[in-house]
Formats: sequence, structure tokens, C-alpha cells
Amino acid sequence: MENAENLRNDLMTAIAGSDGTDALEAVRVSALGKKGSITQLMKSLGAMDPDARKEAGQAINALKGEVAGAIDARKAELEGAELDTRLMAEKIDVTLPVRPQWDGRIHPISQVIEEMTAIFCEMGFTVAEGPDIEEDWYNFTALNIPPEHPARQEHDTFYLPGEKDGHRKVLRTHTSPVQIHTMQDKEPPIRIIVPGRTYRCDYDATHSPMFHQIEGLVIDESTHMGHLKGCVIDFCRAMFQVDDLPARFRPSYFPFTEPSAELDIGCTRAGGEFRIGHGDDWLEILGCGMVNPKVLENCDIDSTRYQGFAFGMGVERIAMLKYGIPDLRTFFESDLRWLRHYGFSALDVPGMAGGLNR
Ligand code: PHE
Repeated sequence: MENAENLRNDLMTAIAGSDGTDALEAVRVSALGKKGSITQLMKSLGAMDPDARKEAGQAINALKGEVAGAIDARKAELEGAELDTRLMAEKIDVTLPVRPQWDGRIHPISQVIEEMTAIFCEMGFTVAEGPDIEEDWYNFTALNIPPEHPARQEHDTFYLPGEKDGHRKVLRTHTSPVQIHTMQDKEPPIRIIVPGRTYRCDYDATHSPMFHQIEGLVIDESTHMGHLKGCVIDFCRAMFQVDDLPARFRPSYFPFTEPSAELDIGCTRAGGEFRIGHGDDWLEILGCGMVNPKVLENCDIDSTRYQGFAFGMGVERIAMLKYGIPDLRTFFESDLRWLRHYGFSALDVPGMAGGLNR
């Protein structure tokens, strides 16, 4: 059986030397397969006499068992190693962010409110807020718009269902009721801006039932119309980043200011292209005026001692003008492609020092 001994050594070397499960399988077939070397040896038994056959048969069976055992052991070893390599390759760090690159954008309305706030805070204003659902008195009466006043009709008010006593709250039609809350709560001097949501029952390409305004209010003992003009003109120049932006005031009417005015800024529509700045055209940008003494008295502020100005403007309109957004309705459609195009990076925080539209 010298033959068998050599075969055993060869096979054991081949098994130990196979470097993968495929190579090992090839060794198995070469030994134990139909035409394998051990199978061949088995077949040769038939030609032997019974005694020799018995002896050789036992030896070959032992060899077969030994080789099969060695193959199984090596197979387990190789499979273990292959699994380890795969696990290493597929390793993931679950503490890493799900998406290494953020995809969020700041909505142009938020960005423009931030820009306006940066400008007014630089001038010394602080931010005030008030409720979206208002008492009629705050939205109208205290602002010198009594019941039956024609200005009420112009506001397309959303009324809430009536309370038990019959009176109905409203969705505020402008940010001006926050003037009243502030004057009730604080002693002058007052210098606030009020960014916030406002509501009117109107919907088309230039009107949305919910929109945003920013209100300004200054009350002290000496503020006059010159201060109002300087303040809103400076604001527009900073906002649109045109240092010599032309501006004009047109007489207007608001029940809560007297006198009242509207501010127009210069623009051009030459060659079909719209641009803010020099040109022969004017664009209405905000409403303003000196706070009506009646409004001060409604808030228990002595109108013989205190005076001041107020202004209000639409945020969407300014955003459309500054960033060339053609349709108001797109602001509220939550279209991600629109937001990727018109939105702002979360790290571009507007500021007077760093810029207003990076
Ligand atoms: N509240 C006015 C509006 O909604 C704007 C305004 C505010 C005008 C303050 C004058 C002073 O149209």
C-alpha cells in the first residue's frame, strides 16, 4: 500500500494548500469524485484475492475517511475566513450621518424676513410678535377702523365662527394689531418691527389667502416724518443694495396714520427686463405714516406728549422683486425643485456685515 501512503501525503498537502473553497472543491473531486483517485483505488479492489482485498479495503476506507474529514475541516476554516473578509468589506459605521451632504434649503420668505430683520436691528429695532387669531378690536377698532368703516370691506376678512355672546374673532388682516398690543404692554420709547403671517380672503396670481407682512412702529417724544422718510429709504437701499436708489412719497390714506403716504422706489422696465434702481418707472413698496393720535389714545398713551411713525409692507412682494420670482403662488406649493432653485443655503445667514444675499 505504498501507493496509498503517497496518495495520502499528496492529498493532505493539496487540502492544506488550497486557498479558497473553490480550490478545495477541486481537490475533493480529484480524490472522492466519480473518477477521483480514491474512488479509482476502491475500484481496483475487485481484482484482488479476498484476504488482500479485506486488508486493502480497510486501509482505503480509512484513507477515504481521513481525507473527507480533512476536507471538511479545511472547508470550515476557509468559509470562516471568507465570511470574515466579507464582513470587513461590508462594515458600515452606523454613527455616520445618513446623508453626508445635506439637502435642505431655507425658503425665500424666511430668508427675506431674516434680511429685513438684520437691517432693522442694525437701526435699533427689536422684533415683536402677536397672535394670528385676533379680536376684532385689535385688528380694526383700536386702529381707528370702527364698525361700518369702509376700510373693513377692503380687507376681505376671514371671520371665525361666533362665540356664545355673538362676537367673532378674525384672522388678522395685517400685522398692525401688534402695534396695539405693544403700546398697551410697553412704555415709550418703542421701536419694534413685526414680521408675521396675515390673512385675506383673496386668491390669484398676485394674492394668496395667507401671506406675510413686516410692520414697523416707533413711538417717542420727538420722532417726526423726516425720521420716517430716512428710515424707510435707508431700508430700501440696504435691502435692494442700490446706494442711490430713487424714492418718492405719495400721499395716501390709512385710518391708523395721519398723515399717510406710500413709498415708491425707482425701477426700469426697459427692453422687457425689470430692474430695481435707476429708470423712468416707479414701483410701490410700502405704506406708512405718522401714528394717528386716536390710536395712541386707544392704547392709553398721552398723544400730547408722544408721537411716532408706522409702516407696513408685504414680504412676498419684496422677495419676488429682489430674487426675480415671477408667481406668488409658487411660494406655498412646497415644490422641492422650486425650493432647490430659489432657496438658500442654511449657512448663508444674512447680516449687515456679511451681506444680505450671499
Ligand atoms: N397695515 C397696512 C396694510 O396692511 C400697512 C400699513 C402699516 C400702513 C403701517 C401704514 C402704517 O396695508
